[in-house]
Amino acid sequence: MGNLSVVGMQWGDEGKGKLVDYLADDYDAVARFNGGSNAGHTVVAGGSKHTFHLLPSGALKRKELLIGAGVALDPDMLAEELASLPGAVRGRLMVDGRCSLVSPFDKKLDSALEEMRGAAAIGTTRRGIGPAYAMRALRLALRAADVMGSPDSSSLAEVYSRLGVDPSGLAAWVKTSREALTGLVGDVASRIRDVMAAGGSVLFEASQGTLLDLLHGTYPYATSAHTVVSYIPAGIGIPPADAGEPLGVTKCYTTRVGGGPFPTEVNGAVSDQIRAIGHEYGATTGRARRIGWLDLVALRYAVRLNGVRSIAVSKLDVLSAMREFRVCVAYRHLGSETQDFFGALSNLNEVEPVYESPVSLLGAEYGGGVPPQAKKLVDYLESALGVRVRILSYGEERSKTVEL
Ligand code: IMP
Ligand code: MG
Repeated sequence: MGNLSVVGMQWGDEGKGKLVDYLADDYDAVARFNGGSNAGHTVVAGGSKHTFHLLPSGALKRKELLIGAGVALDPDMLAEELASLPGAVRGRLMVDGRCSLVSPFDKKLDSALEEMRGAAAIGTTRRGIGPAYAMRALRLALRAADVMGSPDSSSLAEVYSRLGVDPSGLAAWVKTSREALTGLVGDVASRIRDVMAAGGSVLFEASQGTLLDLLHGTYPYATSAHTVVSYIPAGIGIPPADAGEPLGVTKCYTTRVGGGPFPTEVNGAVSDQIRAIGHEYGATTGRARRIGWLDLVALRYAVRLNGVRSIAVSKLDVLSAMREFRVCVAYRHLGSETQDFFGALSNLNEVEPVYESPVSLLGAEYGGGVPPQAKKLVDYLESALGVRVRILSYGEERSKTVEL
């Protein structure tokens, strides 16, 4: 079995965690390569629910767990997450020494910047992700390997202090970070090469979604890392071919947390119903997610950017309760229609979605296979997107999954 990468096709929360847990059986290791504890990956198995922020979602499947260099790692969060799981997880986990660390000062700076932006706030998770990646780019961040020694953090303290964040406690934080990371730090890139050399395979788990990518997403309403599959080789330190085949994950509708343009957003009774049935509240922040219809213009862009040939469609159970189901096939702006998401990026706030209603999924029942309405949706999406629909997900529980 070759490697596989699971990537979000929307603004995150597509159900990647559930799928990674489901697919993990076939792989030896599950690796994260981007983001940090801004992620909230929910896995429900045997009636119990786990939300992972830093640990790869293969944690419940007793797989080897790898956190690659591209991750912004918050050692306090990691310690908390490890404490909430049985001890066996620690022995299966490796954190790359090149991961830059998210400090309590980055979290303060994240909040201060959001307050400063006022009405134009990005709506970050306030987990310090932006400041941590900025400190890395400035070559000031401490990395996992650095805190295992005795790093000089004086220039970092000086920078925080000039930015208005009191850096006292930095040395104490370095010490607790060292304790949290003891026995975990290694070379994930090299470990992946060894797993593959021994005939094993790796499942890569992306955080957030393509439309939140720092370069290719809805900047500045984006996260501070890359969320597309092309970041796997760089974020881990492996050759491009080793990232394996990408599997895109999309909900059958759209959600977004935080600010920024959202062409197919709906408000009122429909969004309230979808939010209630689909439990659309942020797994990290608890915020109510914004709700909208499926957007094929945005999806085609995500399919192209990631070179995705197969997708998984999640949350189909939600549509079983909805009389209405709409799909946006184009954007209308100043009298003309476009299917070019990138071209529309600069006026995404003003475009008007053009909708089709290809099928009603009201009353569709899964359990006994793929109901005819869902089959019709699969055919519609395959022809509209030029991809194969490989997996349908119709509930949070691991077992509520069908492979086509
Ligand atoms: P940050 O990543 O915390 O800086 O937040 C930047 C934007 O990305 C905000 O709109 C967040 O709501 C969004 N975001 C970050 N992580 C996730 C995620 O895991 N799921 C969904 N949205 C996210
Ligand atoms: Mg999430």
